[in-house]
Amino acid sequence: MLADRTMPTSDAHVNHHRPDCTDWIRSSNNVTQQFLSFGGMPDVVSLAGGLPAPELYPLQAVRDATLRALDRHGAAALEYGPVEGLFALRQLIASRVSATTGGTFSADHVLLTTGAMQGLDLIGKVLIDSGERVIVQAPTYLGALDAWRPRRPAYERLRWDATPAELRGAKFVYTVPNYSNPTGALVPQAQRVALLEQVLQAQTWLVEDDPYQALQLDGPAGPSILAHAAARQAGAYSGPVIYLGTVSKSLVPGLRVGWVVAEAGLIQTLALAKQSADLSSSMLTQAITFELLDSQFDHAHAQTLVDAYRPRRDALCREAALHLSDWFEWEVPVGGMFVWMRAKDRAIDTNALYRLAIEEKVAFVPSSVFDFSGDDRFAMRLNFTRAAPAVLAEGVQRLARAVQRYLKTQPAPR
Ligand SMILES: Cc1ncc(COP(=O)(O)O)c(C=O)c1O
Repeated sequence: MLADRTMPTSDAHVNHHRPDCTDWIRSSNNVTQQFLSFGGMPDVVSLAGGLPAPELYPLQAVRDATLRALDRHGAAALEYGPVEGLFALRQLIASRVSATTGGTFSADHVLLTTGAMQGLDLIGKVLIDSGERVIVQAPTYLGALDAWRPRRPAYERLRWDATPAELRGAKFVYTVPNYSNPTGALVPQAQRVALLEQVLQAQTWLVEDDPYQALQLDGPAGPSILAHAAARQAGAYSGPVIYLGTVSKSLVPGLRVGWVVAEAGLIQTLALAKQSADLSSSMLTQAITFELLDSQFDHAHAQTLVDAYRPRRDALCREAALHLSDWFEWEVPVGGMFVWMRAKDRAIDTNALYRLAIEEKVAFVPSSVFDFSGDDRFAMRLNFTRAAPAVLAEGVQRLARAVQRYLKTQPAPR
C-alpha cells in the first residue's frame, strides 16, 4: 500500500479502516496535510512546506484591492459567477500571455480555477480514463499525484529525449519546467523545445504547471513551453500545451486563484467539469486578483520576494555545505522554493531519517511521496522560503544531528 511505503510516520491517516469508502480514497493518504501542519508547530523547524513567507504577504495591497474590487463590482463581487470565471480577469490573463508568448490568446483560452490545484483536478477528470498512460516529470509534484489518484492512471517517467513513439498513446505529459516541485530544477530551453517537438509529433497533450515562474532568483527563466508552442502557429492559439498559472506563490495562496490556458475547445470541456466541481470560483477573490494584476502590483511584489528569498536559499545551502555535504549532494536552485538533496550512494533512507528528524524537531519531505511508485527513498526536499536565515541554519543543524543518529542505527560496513 502506498502509505505504508511512503509515509514515514504512522499509517493511521489512511482510510483503509473505512470499508464503505471508494477504492481510491482507501489508497489515499493525508501526507500533504501532515507536512503542512508542521508550519503551525512553533518548536519544529519546518523545511517541509511549500509556502511563501507569511510576513511578506502584502496585507495593505490586498486590503486596498478589496475595496477597489467592491467599488468596481458592487454586489456582483459577492454573487455566484460564470463558471469560466470573471471575464475581465480572463481577458487580462489572455493579454498578458499574448504579450509574453507572442501568441494570440483571448478570454476563450482562459479558465479561472480555485488555485492551480483545481486545474490539475479538472485535467484529470476530463482527460484520464482508468488505466490510461500519463507520462510525468519525475520526481513529481505530490499534489498532481493526489489530484489524479481517483482517475487511476498508469504512470511512466518522462525522459526528456523520449521519441514520439514512446509518447504516442499517452494521454498527456506533465512537467513543472520552472524551478520544479520538488527538485527546484530549471528545465533548459533546448529540452523544452525538444519535448514540444516530440509531443506535437505524438499528437498528445503537454501539461505545463508553472507556479514558481515569478521566483527567478538568479536571472530569467526564459520562455515557457506554451510560448514555444504559440510561436509555431499563426492565428488563435490551438496548440497541445495546457498551461497552469496561479497567484499562490507570487502573491498569496489564500486568494485561491489560478488559471488554465489552453485551446478554446478544451477550456469549454474543462468548464463543464468545473461546473460540477464548485459552480464557480469565488468572484470576490477573482475581483481582488484582477485589481492586483491590473495595477501590476504582482510585478513589484515579485521583486520583494526574490530579494527576500535569495539570502534564505543561500543561508540554507551554506549551512548544508557545512553540515550535510558528507552524506548528501545537491544543485543550488536558481529559483523557486526548494533544494533537493540526494543521499550519496543511496546510503540514507530518508523515510527512516524522517522519524529521527521529527524527534530532533525539524521536518522535511522525503522523496518517496514524490514518486508514483513510492520507491525512491534516498532524497529529500527542503524548503527555504518560509523561515528566516538563522532558523534555516538551525534546521539544517538539527537535520545533521538526525543523520548522525541515523548512521548509528546502521550496521557497520563489511
Ligand atoms: C507544482 C505545483 N502545482 C500546483 C500547485 C498548487 O497551487 P495552488 O495553490 O494554486 O493550488 C503547487 C503548490 O505547491 C505546486 O507546487
